[in-house]
Amino acid sequence: MGLLLQHFLLKCLLFLILPYFLTQCVSSVQRPCLDSERSALLQLKESFILNRSASSYSKADSWKLDGWIGGDCCSWDGVECDDNTGHVIGLDLRSSFLYGSIDSNSTIFQLHHLRRLNLFDNDFNGSEIPSVIGNLSRLSQLDLSYSAFSGQIPNTLANLTELTYLSLSENDFSPSTLSWLGKLSKLTILGVASTNSYGDVLPSLKNLTRLTSLRLSRNQFSSQILFWLGNFTRLTRLDLGVNKFWGLVPESIFTLIKLEFLSLWSNLLNGTYKLKSFLNLRNLKQLQLSGNNFSLLTTTTVMNVTVPKFTILTLASCNLFEFPNFLSGQDELEFLDLSRNKIHGYIPKWIWGLSAQTLGVLHLKENFLTGFRQPAVVPPWTNLRRLDLGSNRLRGNLPILPASIYYYFVSNNFLQGEIPSMICTLSSIIVLDISNNSFSGMIPPCLGNLRT
Ligand SMILES: *[C@@H]1O[C@H](CO)[C@@H](O)[C@H](O)[C@H]1NC(C)=O
Ligand SMILES: *[C@@H]1O[C@H](CO)[C@@H](O)[C@H](O)[C@H]1NC(C)=O
Ligand SMILES: *[C@@H]1O[C@H](CO)[C@@H](O)[C@H](O)[C@H]1NC(C)=O
Ligand SMILES: *[C@@H]1O[C@H](CO)[C@@H](O)[C@H](O)[C@H]1NC(C)=O
Ligand SMILES: *[C@@H]1O[C@H](CO)[C@@H](O)[C@H](O)[C@H]1NC(C)=O
Ligand SMILES: *[C@@H]1O[C@H](CO)[C@@H](O)[C@H](O)[C@H]1NC(C)=O
Ligand SMILES: *[C@@H]1O[C@H](CO)[C@@H](O)[C@H](O)[C@H]1NC(C)=O
Ligand SMILES: *[C@@H]1O[C@H](CO)[C@@H](O)[C@H](O)[C@H]1NC(C)=O
Ligand SMILES: *[C@@H]1O[C@H](CO)[C@@H](O)[C@H](O)[C@H]1NC(C)=O
Ligand SMILES: *[C@@H]1O[C@H](CO)[C@@H](O)[C@H](O)[C@H]1NC(C)=O
Ligand SMILES: *[C@@H]1O[C@H](CO)[C@@H](O)[C@H](O)[C@H]1NC(C)=O
Repeated sequence: MGLLLQHFLLKCLLFLILPYFLTQCVSSVQRPCLDSERSALLQLKESFILNRSASSYSKADSWKLDGWIGGDCCSWDGVECDDNTGHVIGLDLRSSFLYGSIDSNSTIFQLHHLRRLNLFDNDFNGSEIPSVIGNLSRLSQLDLSYSAFSGQIPNTLANLTELTYLSLSENDFSPSTLSWLGKLSKLTILGVASTNSYGDVLPSLKNLTRLTSLRLSRNQFSSQILFWLGNFTRLTRLDLGVNKFWGLVPESIFTLIKLEFLSLWSNLLNGTYKLKSFLNLRNLKQLQLSGNNFSLLTTTTVMNVTVPKFTILTLASCNLFEFPNFLSGQDELEFLDLSRNKIHGYIPKWIWGLSAQTLGVLHLKENFLTGFRQPAVVPPWTNLRRLDLGSNRLRGNLPILPASIYYYFVSNNFLQGEIPSMICTLSSIIVLDISNNSFSGMIPPCLGNLRT
């Protein structure tokens, strides 16, 4: 109280002398920050090296003592205070070039009133997350992702039962089971991608039905995906990719109508599914099913109107026997992978109209394709960077591609004739693999002039 009064009187008495202090006088009706918290923040800043180039700005740059009473730390960049109590309740130091270690003595842990703490994208140099973080019991949002933490993930995080947002993704932790996660029953967003976690975590998450986003990708989680996932009706993002989930995908997953992102790729899942069941999830933008042991049935004709517009669609190794015909209406695709299927015969005519403005990557390798139904003289894709037609049964001349291409693979086919000198117009090419074909004649001399 004393400080508030002092602060108010100071600014407002000065206003009597200099009109400039009017706004200061008015704003000082809000509580200024507490001395103890100001010094905690300054010590925090001191405990790191700001590792950045001369031109980049760190939020901590604005943290410094100022004026007679030290400066109002509530106005510092990334600091948020409670209007009534003046306590620091939010600290947003994402991408602030902080480099150095954090331990249990860090003055962060003196900020007991914190509700939001964001340290995303800094370099804590392999520090362990101090278990005292479990004392910040008011935290509702905590982001420690991409920050070079290591060691054990402290199970005292389970004490933070107010958390609605928790991300620990992309840190090099010691292997851990995270079996306590289910205690955080208010979570709406949970990210533990790439955290070296393992085990049977899913059953413990059964009660987290408020989740809108669940990211468990790139770990060693192994369990079945259970039917109760269908109770997570608010999910917009479900990322289980690159783990060891096994067994069948429960039908209940096809009722999660809000899903925009669904990734199951590279697991040990199996079973036979109608492609249409996935396409009924009409809000999907990204669907990744590659690298399991799925059989996808394409038999039902799907009308354009009801089908999602995908940006990323990966259906490699899905035992497809034909190009799914709904693809002909897709005009926003950026990445399409149909590799390692059992697709025979010609690549359909509509391929030349497929997402002509947006398509960047097209993988068709390891099928039984024999050629293009209709060769295009000028391929329509303006942004295609990567095309893989390798290990098929392509015959005829080398298909020519747009100048935007970086990577072009057509090895292990039966292409014939001369290598056209037009290939030298691929001015951006980085990798060109046309090996193991049946070309004849000369290698065009201009090939030697290509950039690489
Ligand atoms: C400092 O930043 C530079 C470039 O931003 C980076 O290459 C370097 O590894 C960083 N050093 C440390 C110790 O984080
Ligand atoms: C980062 O960690 C290395 C290896 O543990 C250590 O030598 C170095 O002093 C640390 N740097 C800082 C700023 O703590
Ligand atoms: C914390 O500070 C105390 C007193 O300065 C010191 O004895 C202790 O070793 C420190 N702990 C850590 C983890 O650095
Ligand atoms: C954290 O909480 C424990 C138990 O409530 C307490 O003993 C400890 O002093 C607290 N540590 C800090 C740094 O506040
Ligand atoms: C915090 O978690 C630890 C370990 O899980 C536990 O021993 C402790 O009692 C918890 N503290 C509070 C305040 O819940
Ligand atoms: C889920 O909630 C129920 C009822 O609140 C409780 O009995 C059960 O132990 C919880 N399950 C898990 C895995 O936390
Ligand atoms: C799913 O929700 C239904 C109805 O909301 C409920 O009856 C059922 O017990 C829930 N299932 C699980 C496994 O939690
Ligand atoms: C799926 O895989 C499991 C073992 O992971 C096996 O027991 C089951 O028979 C398989 N189901 C199908 C339909 O292939
Ligand atoms: C995939 O499933 C089929 C039966 O559906 C089975 O014969 C085959 O061995 C499985 N492949 C792998 C890699 O599990
Ligand atoms: C789907 O859309 C494409 C182009 O938008 C059109 O050529 C094709 O006839 C449509 N297919 C169906 C089944 O409506
Ligand atoms: C060359 O390509 C053919 C056709 O795809 C394939 O059968 C053969 O194994 C390939 N040879 C080598 C050496 O890769």
